[in-house]
Amino acid sequence: MYKCALILAAGKGKRMKSDLPKVLHKVCDKEMVNHVIDTMRKSEIENVNVIIGKGAELVKEATSNKNVSYSMQEEQLGTGHAVKCAKDFLEGKDGVVAIFTGDAPLITEATVKNLIDFHQKGDYKASIITAVIDNPEGYGRIIRNEDSSVKKIVEHKDCTVDELKVNEINSGMYCFDIKSLLKSLDKIDNNNAQGEYYLPDVIGIFKEEGLKIGAMAVPFDEILGVNSRVQLSAVSKVMQRRINEKHMENGTTLIDSDSTYIGADVVIESDTIIYPGNVLQGETVIKTGCILYPNSRIQDSVIGKNVTVQSSVILESTVGEDTTVGPFAYIRPESKIGNKARIGDFVEIKKSTIGDNTKVSHLTYIGDAEVGEGCNFGCGTVVVNYDGKAKHKTVIGNKSFIGCNTNLVSPVKVEDNTYIAAGSTITNTVPEGSLAIARAKQVVKEGWVDKKGLLK
Ligand code: UD1
Ligand code: MG
Repeated sequence: MYKCALILAAGKGKRMKSDLPKVLHKVCDKEMVNHVIDTMRKSEIENVNVIIGKGAELVKEATSNKNVSYSMQEEQLGTGHAVKCAKDFLEGKDGVVAIFTGDAPLITEATVKNLIDFHQKGDYKASIITAVIDNPEGYGRIIRNEDSSVKKIVEHKDCTVDELKVNEINSGMYCFDIKSLLKSLDKIDNNNAQGEYYLPDVIGIFKEEGLKIGAMAVPFDEILGVNSRVQLSAVSKVMQRRINEKHMENGTTLIDSDSTYIGADVVIESDTIIYPGNVLQGETVIKTGCILYPNSRIQDSVIGKNVTVQSSVILESTVGEDTTVGPFAYIRPESKIGNKARIGDFVEIKKSTIGDNTKVSHLTYIGDAEVGEGCNFGCGTVVVNYDGKAKHKTVIGNKSFIGCNTNLVSPVKVEDNTYIAAGSTITNTVPEGSLAIARAKQVVKEGWVDKKGLLK
């Protein structure tokens, strides 16, 4: 059977008090709408169409690598109107359409698959995901007939006193037979408390036409929607717990799961230990046997096996195996750190490669440089890569010893097996096998203190 999905994402989300469209707010480092799209894909739904309106260009940009199509809803006249705007997408299709909203990212692949299954097996023309909750305030209510079949959905603001008491709510997530849905869309009106075209009204229309309707209840935390920052935080907590539990089940130790923030797309191999205060983001991969001591942020980076990191920031870079990073290191984008290397305290590496077994232990800046294997950087080395106008490159060969407090004025080359004396400012090539000293010679004035009458 052909399956497609619509994701409603045209609203602004006024209560977020944000310039960003609501569906682009992130939950566990991924835009809410992208969570929903990814869940549709995992549920084997072929075509996904996103209904955009407020901030359309931004939503398009944020979803550009997701292979989805778009329908434009210029004015937000209600969820029914939003689906109408996707008529072009639905017309001529034969099968089912799953309808979800871009502001409810907790929906799982299992539930989407179950819904479609439930819909098919029950031979329904419409299936609704519902939940039974203690406080249904604000939600549309599922109104059932005496034989418990679904009669209609009534929005909170349109409920009678009796209807308000119903605590089975509409999740805003459905599965429809495409042809039946298309026929009903034109029949909904906006004669209601909010003057909007409600999508849930098609349920009542289906009922009147004798079409079979199913309702499938799921745990409430799968359908939690985000309308405010408080709800964004609540949803993030649920998502984070799920992500962390998945990693723990796969063999990662989290010393304190509640204070470990792992993005939705992060991959962690087994036998890694993560201490509190770590934030792992983007498409980061942590290989096996690593120890992430407290308080690091690692984004879009690959960390090799048996690496230890502490209180450091690593962005868009790779770190080789058995290397140690930190405390207090800053590895900036496009850096590649080799195996068994050391990037120590107060070291910043920017757009540079550092070879295997090279040690950069303390207080050093390396930018736009290629550094070979087995080098040792003394404390306080600075690669002077910027002349005020442009950045220049420094190349350092293998097994070089860079003395403490050295400046390497780029562009400059330090060849293999060299020594640089502490305190040197290097401006010319240091040839292979040589020692370079580039500092003023020491002058000693014997007896000077006494002569000056300064002796204490
Ligand atoms: C909707 C349901 C309600 C259900 C609740 C669950 C309707 C009328 N009501 O109410 O029964 O209990 O979800 O959370 O559908 N949107 C558009 N275009 C529009 C209007 C909305 O794209 O013209 C999008 C919004 O961006 C949002 C989603 O549809 O992502 C839901 O709209 P919202 O206004 O939040 O509906 P609710 O009042 O929550
Ligand atoms: Mg809502």
